[in-house]
Amino acid sequence: MRFRPLRPASAPDSTPVAVADPPETMRAAVIDAAGGTDALHEATIPVPSPVLSELLVRVVAAGVNPIDAKTRAGAGVSGAITGYPTSLGYDFSGIVVRSPYESHPLPPGTQVFGMVPFPRSGGTYAEYAVVPSQSVARKPASLSHVEAAGVPLAALTAWGLVVETAHAHEGQRVLIHAGSGGVGHFAVQFAAYFGAHVTATGSARNASWLRELGASVVIDYTTTRFEDVIADVDVVIDLVGNVHAQTGDRSLKVVRPGGLYIVVPTGSFPGYADAAADTGVRATGYKVIPDGSALATVGRLLESGAVQVYIDRVFDLEDAAAAHAELEQGHTRGKIVLRVSDD
Ligand SMILES: NC(=O)c1ccc[n+]([C@@H]2O[C@H](COP(=O)([O-])OP(=O)(O)OC[C@H]3O[C@@H](n4cnc5c(N)ncnc54)[C@H](OP(=O)(O)O)[C@@H]3O)[C@@H](O)[C@H]2O)c1
Repeated sequence: MRFRPLRPASAPDSTPVAVADPPETMRAAVIDAAGGTDALHEATIPVPSPVLSELLVRVVAAGVNPIDAKTRAGAGVSGAITGYPTSLGYDFSGIVVRSPYESHPLPPGTQVFGMVPFPRSGGTYAEYAVVPSQSVARKPASLSHVEAAGVPLAALTAWGLVVETAHAHEGQRVLIHAGSGGVGHFAVQFAAYFGAHVTATGSARNASWLRELGASVVIDYTTTRFEDVIADVDVVIDLVGNVHAQTGDRSLKVVRPGGLYIVVPTGSFPGYADAAADTGVRATGYKVIPDGSALATVGRLLESGAVQVYIDRVFDLEDAAAAHAELEQGHTRGKIVLRVSDD
């Protein structure tokens, strides 16, 4: 897993796909107001119009992320919703339909994956989306659109945590909570790839899989209190916070003095900065950045086989409510993806 050389560039998908002019309306999964999973329903809404440097993409598949469910329920980034009905969803894989100008490097027909602006209100649970051209990369040829749609938000979060914030390196001791989820399964792989010694928490059913991804140690959070078996780690990447069994407070006890604690779910550990200061630990939150350049690097790692995306379940667009119900169980392995349209 460590520094495995990348295969010579079998390039990302560069073969353009034929595209038709977009229609005026499209199918989307929308909400008319905040609510439970049944608030999410299929509707016909206008196809959005790109401006300036935006692309119009035809969405083939969209990732389903916890922030979508939080926003649907009236939390998350629901404050950014400017009107109803509104679609949800931040990441996608699909095909460019309109580019900003004639010789743009991502012309119509290019197969891309990426994110719409975050933390705005989303919109990839729909047949078309407008996307900043800086927030996409060419889809790796080795991945289907369904696989690629599971990558952008989760992998960019993991990249920002492991590479840009924790500066993962050989011998660094990293503890990753919820290593088997969407963000976690990328974080485990990136940290191991850069030579860190990775401990992940997860339930027993995911233990051997987490080791395959690169975790040296797996702690079953359902039977073992991690602070009983681990100490003096350099970095904790906390994808749980105090929403379960005071994971945040307990994590501060296992970081070495001067080490780093990163809490990821927004609002999951109020007061974490003061609590960390009291224990001599550096601490920060983190927000994903829709960075197409970092996504292109992640794409190369996927293309080379050094990193993999795991798709747990695929739902059709009209079953978006069922996808949210599944996600809200809290036990997704890897990613849930919506199939929006044909390739
Ligand atoms: N700030 C940001 O920019 C940002 C970006 C992305 C995500 N997030 C947040 O980060 C969190 C994780 O996101 P995600 O997409 O990775 O979620 P996810 O895919 O839904 O996570 C599911 C995984 O969590 C594991 N899990 C549940 N409770 C656990 C516990 N107490 N200890 C250890 N593992 C546990 C489950 O493993 P088992 O099945 O084995 O229980 C499951 O594999 C969410 O709250 C999300 O909103 C924030």
